[in-house]
Amino acid sequence: MSDDRDRRMKWWRQARFGMFVHWGLYAQLGRHEWVMNRERIPIKEYEKLADTWKPKERPAREWAKLAKQAGMKYMVMTTKHHEGFCLWDTEQTDYNAAKHGPGRDLVREYVEACREFGLKIGFYYSLMDWHHPDGAKCAKDEDARKRFIEFTDGCVRELCSNYGKIDILWYDVSWPLSSPELWESARRNAMVRELQPDIIINNRSQLPEDFGTPEEHVTAEGKGRDWEACMTFNGSWGYMPSAIDWRSVREVIGMLRTAAGGQGNLLLNIGPAPDGSVPEEAYERLIPVGKWLEKNGEPVYGKVDRADGMEWVPTGQWTRKGNTAYFWCNRWPGNELAIGGLKMKVQEASFVATGEGIEFDQTENRLVMKNLPEESPDDIAGVTIIKLECESEPRQVLGAGYVVL
Ligand code: GLC
Repeated sequence: MSDDRDRRMKWWRQARFGMFVHWGLYAQLGRHEWVMNRERIPIKEYEKLADTWKPKERPAREWAKLAKQAGMKYMVMTTKHHEGFCLWDTEQTDYNAAKHGPGRDLVREYVEACREFGLKIGFYYSLMDWHHPDGAKCAKDEDARKRFIEFTDGCVRELCSNYGKIDILWYDVSWPLSSPELWESARRNAMVRELQPDIIINNRSQLPEDFGTPEEHVTAEGKGRDWEACMTFNGSWGYMPSAIDWRSVREVIGMLRTAAGGQGNLLLNIGPAPDGSVPEEAYERLIPVGKWLEKNGEPVYGKVDRADGMEWVPTGQWTRKGNTAYFWCNRWPGNELAIGGLKMKVQEASFVATGEGIEFDQTENRLVMKNLPEESPDDIAGVTIIKLECESEPRQVLGAGYVVL
């Protein structure tokens, strides 16, 4: 089992950075994907959005192109969010994109776009369903539960059968059934794996499966557990033009640092407009992130190790690959950069972006890098990566007390 997981997770553990896409009827209202529930919009009224939804041609190509430019390696799109509207041509319900406004299978377009741009393909699927007549009733009525399970099986089977190879199944909210037994998750996930032997499944069907999903915070899970932090860009997953507090380029890079430092991934969301276009604010940030990654991708992609043995210093933070420590300097100190408490011998120091070597002195408790530029050499985000190749595994010890012997 764990060998099989290592095989399936190999690409994912090296990919680090993916794009989440929340797109559905709610985009037309532009007030978060929970708008139906939070504003108690009656189903009959909400349903009208199915016919008024007229996305432009193939917007998924724009998302995939942007994801590629941003240095992302995979995508995860909402095939059905809590609202219950299916973005694919399904036989399980008429409440789907092919039979209403869009008049076509939006999941297929998405899959084709991912393939065109060489991105791995993830399907988000909300178990909770506010539209299905048994979606709530299933908790109290066994017949309803059976019907709802059959519906859920049918949807998941179609998604895993009709689109070729799918790389990730990303379940969400398992309300209202209170156990994986009631959801029949183990059986369903076994079916998924039969249809898609390489697929990676998240932990939101009430079973741990392959990876944990910290949400809106980038926090490593316990050692040995794979994890992916999912983050909004502006506080809303669905399109919401009034949500104007967009995370900055530096914040995105900082999240990538925390992800890499804890051997995890970052799944950063965009909520396309009703027509499918990507909000301008996302472009303004993701393009520079991609440019930065082009120069500084080395500590981000590929096999990383946990940087647990390292401490905080005022000028930046760490990630690690084997005996190489990467110092992410996001507060440039000027022409000298000192780091205390390193317990390993540094053999070489250099800038990742240019490969240029850095002069340094190392004494027992102090590494001092010298003759550096006055300003941060990174003109994209002010985050400069310094690579320290060391004789042994990087370790840093800095107690609170200050003792110079
Ligand atoms: C939450 C929300 C949902 C969002 C998801 C993404 O569970 O209910 O709207 O899609 O997180 O992780």
